[in-house]
Amino acid sequence: MIGRLNHVGVATPSIDEAVKLYRDVLGATSIGEKFKMEEQGVWVCFVDLPNSQIELIEPIDESSTITGFLKNNPLGGQHHICFEVEDLLAARDDMVAKGARVLGEPRIGAHGTPIIFIHPKDMGGMLVELMQTPEAAH
Ligand code: CO
Repeated sequence: MIGRLNHVGVATPSIDEAVKLYRDVLGATSIGEKFKMEEQGVWVCFVDLPNSQIELIEPIDESSTITGFLKNNPLGGQHHICFEVEDLLAARDDMVAKGARVLGEPRIGAHGTPIIFIHPKDMGGMLVELMQTPEAAH
């Protein structure tokens, strides 16, 4: 059911510092501008790779959804992994039917398409984001 690996979400205390790592040390050449995702309380910045993306996530403030993660991982680190699905609502229903805990209601993610998150305890220890495949990718 899952399709392409869309991105790996990486939490960081500073997108500006993380961009230096991806650009200057790892040599990434296509890095977007950071932008605010108000509802999630995070800044987001995408690093384009030939086959996927890294989604850098920095908390806007203490109330952010990733503040707790950064307390446990002060340097930042892999936060979630995002797979594309053809039909997000069908995927959500399928996950629920199989007993996986879906976190919250579907919402619009950083790519402008509906997303859900699945509890790491039902995903082998990994927070999984499912994202409806963007139209442009078809
Ligand atoms: Co993501």
